[in-house]
Amino acid sequence: MKTFAIFAAFAALAGFVVAAPAPGVSLVARGLEASPAPLSYQQVVPIVDAGEAAVAKREIEARQGVYVTIHINWSGGGGWIGPVNRGACADLVVSWKNVISSFGPDSPLVCWIYDGDWCTGDWYGPIYNPGIADLTTIGFNDRINSFICW
Ligand SMILES: *[C@@H]1O[C@H](CO)[C@@H](O)[C@H](O)[C@H]1NC(C)=O
Repeated sequence: MKTFAIFAAFAALAGFVVAAPAPGVSLVARGLEASPAPLSYQQVVPIVDAGEAAVAKREIEARQGVYVTIHINWSGGGGWIGPVNRGACADLVVSWKNVISSFGPDSPLVCWIYDGDWCTGDWYGPIYNPGIADLTTIGFNDRINSFICW
């Protein structure tokens, strides 16, 4: 099986090589789109180093939270809870317990809601953006006490 897979990989590679134009053969002459002009060294954007990528990721994540309202269909009083601490349970402050009727995580957060404190008790999930406008549809209206997102 392994031998076959390796053979198949070589066959695919060989096929690719055959399909590529021979040096000096114009793609336009063969009726294909011309490839863009090669980039000069000065035009090539350097790859962002891992440290910069991590900083950019943290900045994006710092703008992600959950929008909630006290009436269904995103009406009544609302609030944005964020930024969420991914993988950590968010226990709602008392004034937000058992009042939420719409629950909307920002993309690409994935959340679970709980009817007990500190992510205990009955739960529902996963919930993705744009969220659930009417928590009565899942039996969770005015029941959220805590939630967790990744
Ligand atoms: C909530 O939105 C749904 C879908 O648009 C609609 O059918 C329903 O009547 C709305 N309910 C209320 C109370 O606004």
